[in-house]
Amino acid sequence: MYILLALVSTIFAAIYFYYKQAFTYWKNRSLPYLTPSIPFGNLNKPWSIPLVDQLTNHYKIFKERGEKHAGFFLMTDPVYVPIHPELVKNVMIKDFHHFTDRGLYVNDEAQPIIGNLFFSDGQKWKNLRQKLTPTFTSGKMKMMFNTMINCTVPLHETIEQISDNNQTFDARDVMAKYTTDVIGSCAFGIECNSFKDPNSDFRKYGKLMFEENSIKALKNLFALSFGNIAKKIGIKNMEPEVAEFFTKVAIDTYNYRIENNIKRNDFMQLLIEMTDKDNNADQKSNGLTMNDFVAQVILFFVAGFDTSSVTLSFTLFNLASHLNIQAKLREEIRRVLKKHNGEITYDAIQEMKYMEQVINETMRLYPIAPAIGRVCTQDYKMPSTNLVIEKGTKVFIPNWGLQRDPDYFPDPEKFDPERFSDENKGTIDPGTYLPFGEGPRICIGLRFAMMQMKMCLAVLLKDYEFRMNSKTKVPLELDFGFVIAVKGGIWLNVKKIS
Ligand code: HEM
Repeated sequence: MYILLALVSTIFAAIYFYYKQAFTYWKNRSLPYLTPSIPFGNLNKPWSIPLVDQLTNHYKIFKERGEKHAGFFLMTDPVYVPIHPELVKNVMIKDFHHFTDRGLYVNDEAQPIIGNLFFSDGQKWKNLRQKLTPTFTSGKMKMMFNTMINCTVPLHETIEQISDNNQTFDARDVMAKYTTDVIGSCAFGIECNSFKDPNSDFRKYGKLMFEENSIKALKNLFALSFGNIAKKIGIKNMEPEVAEFFTKVAIDTYNYRIENNIKRNDFMQLLIEMTDKDNNADQKSNGLTMNDFVAQVILFFVAGFDTSSVTLSFTLFNLASHLNIQAKLREEIRRVLKKHNGEITYDAIQEMKYMEQVINETMRLYPIAPAIGRVCTQDYKMPSTNLVIEKGTKVFIPNWGLQRDPDYFPDPEKFDPERFSDENKGTIDPGTYLPFGEGPRICIGLRFAMMQMKMCLAVLLKDYEFRMNSKTKVPLELDFGFVIAVKGGIWLNVKKIS
């Protein structure tokens, strides 16, 4: 009994001293920091308050104290936070070669299909980025335009029905069906029919992939802080049934297209053409292995549907709360379409500049990734400071805080697309506006995302007016999961207008 007690006391004492020692890290480097506590460092109830929410609070505290940069602790891990936009740009753009990695927990030994562009680091990321960049050129986007526009037909029909029956709808739900159809069609070459079959496997597994709960949040935090142990005990990145479903669909589609010599204008086709089915492609060649192929197809699905559907639903929310801006946007859509014989074409979409302003301003207020992560990959002396950031240190870019900072965006809570007009946008510092990230790791799907969002808004707004329904709780209560969501949903009414 005494031995057991002594053993337990020794273990607790060892953990205590380990934490105390770890918590001296920023003090020893004279960087301003927040006082941490055992066991979660500077995180408060991490099972219920999401990491990004906490980071936004840290930004506010540091900014109020007038700090240029600061540190905090993720459990025992020291995290560096650049607050001043110049330091943000040093990390993301100017000295990117010191911060090439995202530093996420990746168990690609247990699940090789997790080795995608988003999760990969180092040379593997560099090779993949080089191989995949040609997939996202404006020429390729133009080629996919028709595949994409077919997905607006069931969307338009659904909104028509809702309008005819005087019903209300949850914008997030309808937008998620549209973007599932688009990305299902462009990444998998499959018609998901999300509007007719809301319980389709794509919707089901797509939802499952993003489902958050307290246990998942703690598991992710543990894996992020103690990656080696997490790998040893077999913590996987993706639920096995989700991985199995998407792998099967990707491989079946690959085989079907090869066997039947089918070619389509979509991502799947571009990836098939880069894939060596015998798995001979090495990292340096232009090709992808079969695992690489499946990993990228799944990534495009993951990255492509929730990001854009959330941004679209916030855009509709903003437009329903600002009917004058909605009317101005409709006027632009109708004017441009008239010039293009009433047809929604690639060129017509490109001409809709005010629409771009509206989306940009929505992403300023509601960036789907409220914080962006990097890891220092070579020791780095931060210019105009005395700090050397050590290799292996995690860096969090607090873009939610930056994008709502009154020093950079006066009256920051106001939805004002004029901030992004031709006359004004030049005054925005790129270190303060990061909805797609910045530098060499900027979102590779930016053009695709803008095209699918603009197409959706053009199709809907040319014929319909959206107004707020009283079921929407304003101000919005946000939920920070994998991407941000609104508690209770965004409920809108819709009316056909001539
Ligand atoms: C509104 C829609 C979207 C938003 C706001 C968004 C935002 C982001 C952000 C913030 C990052 C991190 C950038 C960084 O670390 O600097 C990112 C990375 C990425 N996104 Fe997107 N994204 C969107 C849509 C898409 C789409 C449609 C695709 C693909 C079809 C996509 C594919 C990717 C990939 C592959 C990466 C990783 C890039 C790399 O590490 O090299 N995204 N995105």
